[in-house]
Amino acid sequence: MVGEANVPMLPAAPSVVWSASVNGRTEEVLAPSNAILLDVLRDRVGQLGVKRGCDLGTCGCCAVLIDGEPRLSCMTLAGDVAGASITTVEGLADGHHLAPIQSCFAEYGGSQCGFCTPGFLVAAQALLNKTTNPSDEDIAEAIEGNLCRCTGYQPIIDSIKAAAEVLRGEADRVEPRTHPHADPHPAGQDEPNLPPGHAR
Ligand code: FES
Ligand code: FES
Repeated sequence: MVGEANVPMLPAAPSVVWSASVNGRTEEVLAPSNAILLDVLRDRVGQLGVKRGCDLGTCGCCAVLIDGEPRLSCMTLAGDVAGASITTVEGLADGHHLAPIQSCFAEYGGSQCGFCTPGFLVAAQALLNKTTNPSDEDIAEAIEGNLCRCTGYQPIIDSIKAAAEVLRGEADRVEPRTHPHADPHPAGQDEPNLPPGHAR
């Protein structure tokens, strides 16, 4: 009888200490032993730049670098990457200074609503870490796992090409004209006591 069905509850996974280097900082947090990396990064470590899009491995919003390689954090068990070096979109900037890929996305329209942008930035940075002279095919391959509903992709490709030019030294560092996203200290020193975007 339906009313007598007795489905045994599975015991919750025990919490364990999870530790890794996240954006250059050693993080140690308690998390279920079967936790997904996306959840640990957002809910335990507080890196909210890692976006939850599909949770199915199809949109690329949750991409992070793990030991330099782009991986989907929604498809990664946190326990499998304990001890690794993880870079989220928050870790791409150099302190208060945007990375060229970030400046170029802002300048060339690679980001519109912005939800997909962290994943694209991470995928693009992984490519640019390997080569500053990517071909069109290299760029297409690097971002093939990332979906964007806004830009039509061409501005994203233009942004990546522009960042490659900056990294090759063939173009000046791009400073977005759009206030308030402009780098407040394009050539100056970091001001560690102020949050990004707040100049004296
Ligand atoms: S949330 Fe991970 S691929 Fe979509
Ligand atoms: S900028 Fe909106 S989904 Fe890509």
